[in-house]
Formats: sequence, structure tokens, C-alpha cells
Amino acid sequence: MPTVQQAADRTEITDPAAVREILLDPGYVVPHPGRGADFGTVAWLRQHVARFSTAEHYQRRQLAADLLGQLDPGYLRGRASQVTRTIVGAAGNEPFEVMSRVARPVPVMVLADSLHASDAARAADAVSAIAPVYQPGSAEPESRAELVANVGVAQLISQFSTLLPPQSDDAMAARIGLLVQAHDATAVLIGTALLAEYEAAYGAGQPALPADGTAGLVARTLRGDPPARWTRRVSPAGELVWLSLACAGDDPAGHLAFGHGPRYCPGAAHAQALAVGVLQALLEHCQPAAPPVIGTEPPRVPTQFHLVAQ
Ligand code: HEM
Repeated sequence: MPTVQQAADRTEITDPAAVREILLDPGYVVPHPGRGADFGTVAWLRQHVARFSTAEHYQRRQLAADLLGQLDPGYLRGRASQVTRTIVGAAGNEPFEVMSRVARPVPVMVLADSLHASDAARAADAVSAIAPVYQPGSAEPESRAELVANVGVAQLISQFSTLLPPQSDDAMAARIGLLVQAHDATAVLIGTALLAEYEAAYGAGQPALPADGTAGLVARTLRGDPPARWTRRVSPAGELVWLSLACAGDDPAGHLAFGHGPRYCPGAAHAQALAVGVLQALLEHCQPAAPPVIGTEPPRVPTQFHLVAQ
């Protein structure tokens, strides 16, 4: 496979060694999030989280790592299972759509609760409005999506302000940033793993517990069909390059699903614990109510998948 490809109108790096090299090179920086945004907007969030910082990256990453250090992955796994079982129980004999009812909200609700949000369900709604426009350049400043996301950021700030002592901008953004970082990728991991299990056994009515356990299913999914396919860097010459996180598969040096180097995902253990917790509850207590509708873009994630309690 060539290292550099000119795909459509962008430069893509798809060789694992070359991706790793760039992710370790301080000359390649994350896309700039702009400056001077008003407090409490999504632009302000981008400008204060570690994810899009260059000069302040180390200190801001430490804030995120300190918060994550207070969250025990084993506890998160148990809570994710418990909340999932409650949602399944509340559905009774009615089929429910697993992506919208469980895969997206549950990990964020469990994290929000652990991070002292005052209303975890509302926090999950707010995060779902922020996530689509979180990446720099993903929405126009005055677009409706950006304005809706601003309401989400304000909602989370008010939730965290109710229960916590006053926070610096960076500390507040770190807390909100963890929820937003968790949202899409963890939901996609759950959906993709569920689909893999459906295709292997679940859909044929066979026992829905993989031989290598739920943790094995999650690990296989991360290697074979990782949720975040690309990340971006700006080269020393100012060119935007797209780095494949799905190119490493069974590479002996390890997969790239959680990135590499100084920006390696600090929530990797938490993400896997949340996904395992949700999947365990779903595989033990539900069966498919109808075949899934599968999205056309990789990763292979269900856009609609109805399950029913068994
Ligand atoms: C399956 C789920 C997840 C995947 C696949 C994933 C993947 C990634 C990747 C690839 C990066 C690095 C991006 C880059 O270098 O450009 C990253 C960064 C990050 N992730 Fe995750 N992530 C997941 C879940 C989570 C969760 C649950 C949290 C927190 C609770 C989290 C927090 C973060 C943070 C704070 C960063 C920024 C790190 C930095 O810039 O230093 N992630 N994630």
C-alpha cells in the first residue's frame, strides 16, 4: 500500500509506520481552533480543550488525565451494564432502537454522573448536540448546528457549576471535553461490535456470547473495524494531512484505534470498559427484533437496530 495517497481533494497517509512517525513529530500540529471565542460557546470549548491545543497541550491533557484518574474503569463497566439493563427493562416487550436508546446516551450518562453533572440524561442530550460540530472547521460560526451546540455547552456549564466550586475555563472545558470525546466513538464501537456479533451468531439465534468474551469482542472490533477512522494534522509546510487510524489492523506494533504518541487517547481504558458493560447487558438480556440497517460508510455500524428483551 502506498504511504501517501491523493484521494479526492485531500492527502491521506495510510501506512502504519508513516502514521506513527507523523503522530510523534512535533512539527505536525492539530488543526487550529481559532482564538477569542465568547465564554460558554462551542468555539470556546474547542479553544480550551487539550484535543485542539498546541502550546497548552501538556497542561490541558494533564487536567483531562487527572479527571480520568478519578474514574475507575471497573466501576464504569458495572454502571454501564446497570443503566443498560434498566433501559431494557423499561422497554418491556416492545422493541427498542439500540443506537439511539442505548449506545449513544448510556456511556455519556455514566461518565456525566461520575464527573458530577447534576442531570446525566440532560447532559447526554447536550453532548449529542455538541459532538457533530466539535472538530474545528466542521460548522459555520453562525450555522444552526453551531448555535444548537452553544446551548448544549451552556447547559453543561450550568450543570457542573451547580455542584462544583468555581472552575477555571480550562478545567471546565476538560470536563465537558471528556463527555464530547466519549460520545461518537464509544457509541460506534458498541454498534460495530454488536453488528459483528449479530453476523457471527446472534442473528442466527445462537448463544450471543462470543467465545473470547465481551472484552475479546471489543478488542477484535477495535483492531478490525475501529470507530475513529482518521485524524488530521497540519504539516510544517501548512498542508492538512489525513492520517488513517484504520490501517494498522493486526500490525505487530499494535493497532491505531486510540491514536499514538503524546496525544494517545487518555480515555482508552474507560471507553473499553463502558463498551464492555453495555454489550454484556445487551447480549445477555436482548435478542434482535429485526435485521439491522447498516450505514454505507465505514466503519460498518448499524444506523437502525431494533432489539427486544428476552
Ligand atoms: C472507542 C472510543 C474511543 C476512541 C476510538 C477514541 C479515540 C481517540 C483518538 C484516536 C484520539 C487521538 C486523536 C489524535 O491524535 O488526533 C483520542 C483523543 C482523546 N480522547 Fe479518545 N477515544 C475514545 C473514547 C474516549 C473516551 C471515553 C474519552 C474520555 C472519557 C476520551 C478522551 C479523549 C481525549 C481527552 C483525547 C485528547 C487527547 C489529547 O489531545 O492529548 N476518548 N481519542
